[in-house]
Amino acid sequence: MTKRDYLTVDALSVEELAKVLDLADELKVNRQRSTDGTGRHRPSTGGHGSDLQGLSIGMIFEKPSTRTRVSFEVGISELGAKAVVLSAGELQLGRGETVEDTARVLSGYLHALVVRTFAQSRLETLASAGSIPVINALSDFSHPCQALADLQTIREHKGDLHELKLSYLGDGNNVAHSLLEAGAMAGMHVAVGTPAGYEPDPQVVRQATDVAARTGGRITVTNDPLEAARDADAVYTDVWTSMGQESENHARTQVLGPFQVGASVMQAAKSDALVLHCLPAHRGEEITPEVMDGPNSVVFEQAANRLHSQKALLLFLLT
Ligand code: CP
Ligand code: NVA
Repeated sequence: MTKRDYLTVDALSVEELAKVLDLADELKVNRQRSTDGTGRHRPSTGGHGSDLQGLSIGMIFEKPSTRTRVSFEVGISELGAKAVVLSAGELQLGRGETVEDTARVLSGYLHALVVRTFAQSRLETLASAGSIPVINALSDFSHPCQALADLQTIREHKGDLHELKLSYLGDGNNVAHSLLEAGAMAGMHVAVGTPAGYEPDPQVVRQATDVAARTGGRITVTNDPLEAARDADAVYTDVWTSMGQESENHARTQVLGPFQVGASVMQAAKSDALVLHCLPAHRGEEITPEVMDGPNSVVFEQAANRLHSQKALLLFLLT
């Protein structure tokens, strides 16, 4: 069997993506059923509690993380596998051992590798030099694990994703790229609103547009925030300054101001539009506190769904 990596959402086929989302829902229900009154989880009744028994999954995070890191570590343990958390600074990688050699060595011990790093090309090198599945836990280019939880959350609230309008406002970044891919595969209308110069990668937009043509979806990119948000079923935003871009913070705050998700954006969207954010959020910058903590916000459910959707991904890739 050839190994499967998950470096971008389109590593999955349209059908596989739907399958992973269905499995994520199933895992969520199983986990809720197996949680006792005190909130404690009893994995033995979870249904998939030993599916990955005996496997060891490495985790390398070269950038900070709360959600991705903890949800993977917990998810791996709930599936019966062992998470081997490796800090980049402790590996010989930090002293100049090549990515290729690291991948080959780790492939001799581990059964998969979850990696958060800067360049997407580093993930590609790890994946091609090693013989175990590599999962992208965020790069500067994409955040495909996030997009699984995003679609799971929207589907839970809105049902069938086909033709729903998902509006992403702000920086055309890694999170936007993965949403474009995932939304196109799910047949959604993904409308991206960014300032000029902050649009998503044109190749990602082209590819998503091609995919949407097959799935009944649609991709639009505009520099007008209200046009992007008009009649949206879900409004999504992310930080204006991603990890690694801190020196641009001041300039970004000026330019991205009009793309803040606040009252006027929400007025343009449907009245029952969901509010999503991958988190961490900066209230008062990309989103107002009223919207972030308002009745339409599902951001904490979205964060919780990282666990279920990543468990589904692990089962899909490793069983
Ligand atoms: N959304 C997300 O990936 O959060 P972390 O950076 O905390 O993992
Ligand atoms: N775009 C953000 C996402 C954080 C989860 C970043 O890369 O920092």
